[in-house]
Amino acid sequence: MPTATGIVLAAGKGTRMKSALPKVLHPLLGQPMLAYALEAMQQATGTQPIVVTGHGAEAVQQAFAQKAAFARQDPPLGTGHAVQAARTAVPEGTRWVLVSNGDMPLLTAATLRRLLEAQQAHDGPITMLTVEADDPRGFGRVVRFPNGRVQAIVEEADATEAQKRIRELNVGAYCFEAAWLWASLPKLPLSPKGEYYLTDLVGLAVSEGRSVQALRLEDPAEAIGVNTRVHLAEAAAALQQRIHRHLMESGVTLIDPARTYIEPTVRIGRDTVVWPNCYLRGTTEIGTGCEIGPNAYILDTRIGNGCRVFASVLEYAVLENHVDIGPFGHLRKGAHLAEGVHMGNFGEVKNSYLGPGVKMGHFSYIGDATIAENVNIGAGTITCNYDGERKHPTKIGKGAFIGSDTMLVAPVELGEGARTGAGAVVTKNVPPHSLAVGVPARVIRKLK
Ligand code: UD1
Ligand code: CA
Repeated sequence: MPTATGIVLAAGKGTRMKSALPKVLHPLLGQPMLAYALEAMQQATGTQPIVVTGHGAEAVQQAFAQKAAFARQDPPLGTGHAVQAARTAVPEGTRWVLVSNGDMPLLTAATLRRLLEAQQAHDGPITMLTVEADDPRGFGRVVRFPNGRVQAIVEEADATEAQKRIRELNVGAYCFEAAWLWASLPKLPLSPKGEYYLTDLVGLAVSEGRSVQALRLEDPAEAIGVNTRVHLAEAAAALQQRIHRHLMESGVTLIDPARTYIEPTVRIGRDTVVWPNCYLRGTTEIGTGCEIGPNAYILDTRIGNGCRVFASVLEYAVLENHVDIGPFGHLRKGAHLAEGVHMGNFGEVKNSYLGPGVKMGHFSYIGDATIAENVNIGAGTITCNYDGERKHPTKIGKGAFIGSDTMLVAPVELGEGARTGAGAVVTKNVPPHSLAVGVPARVIRKLK
């Protein structure tokens, strides 16, 4: 099988972002912008893409060490020069070279694939992607002969007034026949701006009597290029719409998509309803039939089926089925709420397991604890898990009943069916089926 290799251009300075961070590392819905271009390229070619780096090369390379091969362009002398810089990284036997700009995060793998397939069926050396738009946004214009054939790409800076009025724009994604590309790049002239433009290859091919094919983009949103932070916000909005549409088409209800932030990595099951002002991030997975929000921030959390999360913050946590939390709950790293746990107002849980059916209605902090099934945690209960130097564990047995405002001074263990009185400060273990009260708590009665 003759192979295709993808090159993603990312050496430019991104001056207009006015940022210390390289442009392609600016986050877009939780991932650096370049991640989208790399993913699309990887999917379209089935091989690891090559990223051309220059400005901020170390940071870019570090961010994508596993996802791409790298070629260095130093100094950056234009997009044609950038492709030339990638040549040594392109594997032997590559017959087609796909090139895209690293600042076009909405370009899909399907479109790149169409570009590749169109070029494979074409006898000229180039297939390029174009888009019709009223706002040219500084894109290169596609100049055609009177018979409709592509003649050249003219950059805005070099365009005549008449050319500036052309509505067909160069998107910045191309597929080249590799042998022709490598033979032709050294022939590129220096532009008036002092750069080697990749886009001049179009005129070059035409001057050799070869034909250049243009493929129109079906969805113009794919052509959104990010040069400024205003463009970044536009790209985020368009990408968000795409994610929302996909979720709704797969059976998720979004009450108000415009006020719902969902990153592309998030998975949500059917018949789950997401209310406004939710932020669903990272590797979060939500099951079927849940009700999320209003007002929830959920990061890297796994949620089972039939759960309810209302006005709460969940980070790095696990919720099994039919858990309900909120309002104003906070789950932190390592919180694991088993089937049917109820966690009401103002609770915080960190690095703890709450067994099936545990109830924790009001104002509690549970840290470094293991709580068995059907324990009732009274209002204001606190695990005093930190002595100023170290964290200590708390264990509570099945069906225990923790009275309101109990302080559990860890390390401490309460047996199955144990009870504490309101305001107890528990400094010693409480045996099973015993009632402990007071400060410090003493066992005053056996319950069984
Ligand atoms: C380029 C195209 C233009 C097209 C537009 C679409 C050229 C000459 N022009 O213009 O026709 O309409 O994209 O967005 O190609 N880069 C390098 N090395 C360089 C210069 C740029 O790697 O020396 C990278 C940049 O990081 C960026 C991409 O190439 O990812 C495009 O460069 P940019 O300067 O943004 O080109 P445009 O002016 O947008
Ligand atoms: Ca650009």
